[in-house]
Amino acid sequence: MMKKIMIIFGTRPEAIKMAPLVKALEQDPDLEPIVVVTAQHREMLDSVLNIFSITPQYDLNVMKVGQTLSGITSKSMVKLEDIIQDVMPNMVLVHGDTVTTFSGALAAFYNQVPIGHVEAGLRSYEKYSPFPEEVNRQMVGVMADLHFAPTYHAAQNLIKEGKLPDQVVITGNTAIDAMNFTISNHYTSQIIEKHKDKKVILLTAHRRENIGQPMINIFKAVKKIIDDYEDLVLIYPVHMNPKVRELAHKYLGNHPRVELVEPLDVVDFHNFAKQSYLILTDSGGIQEEAPSIHKPVLVLRESTERPEGVKAGTLKVIGTKEETVFKALKQLLDNSYIYQNMCNAKNPYGDGQASERIVNHIKYYLGLINEKPSHFESAKD
Ligand code: UD1
Ligand code: UDP
Repeated sequence: MMKKIMIIFGTRPEAIKMAPLVKALEQDPDLEPIVVVTAQHREMLDSVLNIFSITPQYDLNVMKVGQTLSGITSKSMVKLEDIIQDVMPNMVLVHGDTVTTFSGALAAFYNQVPIGHVEAGLRSYEKYSPFPEEVNRQMVGVMADLHFAPTYHAAQNLIKEGKLPDQVVITGNTAIDAMNFTISNHYTSQIIEKHKDKKVILLTAHRRENIGQPMINIFKAVKKIIDDYEDLVLIYPVHMNPKVRELAHKYLGNHPRVELVEPLDVVDFHNFAKQSYLILTDSGGIQEEAPSIHKPVLVLRESTERPEGVKAGTLKVIGTKEETVFKALKQLLDNSYIYQNMCNAKNPYGDGQASERIVNHIKYYLGLINEKPSHFESAKD
């Protein structure tokens, strides 16, 4: 009998990183994937589902404008519990650190279904940074039975916290698997063509803890840079959160060299990233993707739970003060030695085979194969 694997996700980044795993599970004759989306995000989730041709078996459609953390948590949990009891899967898989991740894991735990946590073990050890993701991820770590850590560093965090070494698997990050699917050397787009004689700064900013003054600081610094350097264009696909949209349009709208665009689908975004000069972001996932396409990233946060990219040299954590953001951008634009070093850093996040490893380890855990599968060869600290 096929074993049922329920994959639960709800936001854009979870979908991008779970899609290659859904595809790998679909290929396996012993496993039956059952995709459940909370749709904590609606349009941004659907865009990823379309690109990867994934039709969820269950769609909870929970998103509403102005949703609160407790609101999404409680709504998702009640609905997820019904589905879990209906299907009784052999394992539930959740990804990362969102409200959907936490709700999915808790609903599985309450029904005593084994939990596999994809992208486990990232830690800032700062309760409110990123908020609420740091604590969500830690709480899921307490409930999980199998921890799929993308890197050696993430695995070590889990071991130090007392997780059993047999339950921790180093896999690489599935984001790199997704990029193998999306990136093309022949990609072109109207916006990129329009600005082909300019250097592109690609910006994304959406973090809950940055909304308000930090985001205003970032936007003011970026505007000053764009004004000062005539060979630059800023492309900013603006997250759908209305609070982010309002600030973006207020501080960056109506500039001839600023393109405020709708969220890009993941094929467009990955290829824009590949063709950009540098990336400015507070995103988590983009910090993992940029090293594999050799793009420098200035991280708009006070700390990062992704230190591997900092150590490798691709990422620089610059915070959210106007002066600091301005200076960091200026330095990267003026100093070609620093720029080239950041471009040439080695990608620490994976080899594109994370999903396959995860599937093999699930099969081993469920007793479908006898030989212990291998881990990703991740650089040691
Ligand atoms: C969520 C995750 C965050 C992740 C981010 C990725 C939590 C607590 N936060 O934050 O970890 O980094 O997703 O983007 O789980 N909206 C739409 N359409 C969409 C998506 C969002 O209209 O397709 C709007 C809605 O008004 C929604 C708002 O954005 O209420 C905020 O969405 P929410 O999921 O609560 O927060 P994010 O900041 O997106
Ligand atoms: N992304 C996308 N379109 C965009 C911006 C980002 O497809 O317009 C992708 C990006 O490549 C990465 C993911 O979305 O895979 C990151 O999502 P986000 O920054 O919203 O969330 P985080 O990673 O911070 O949780």
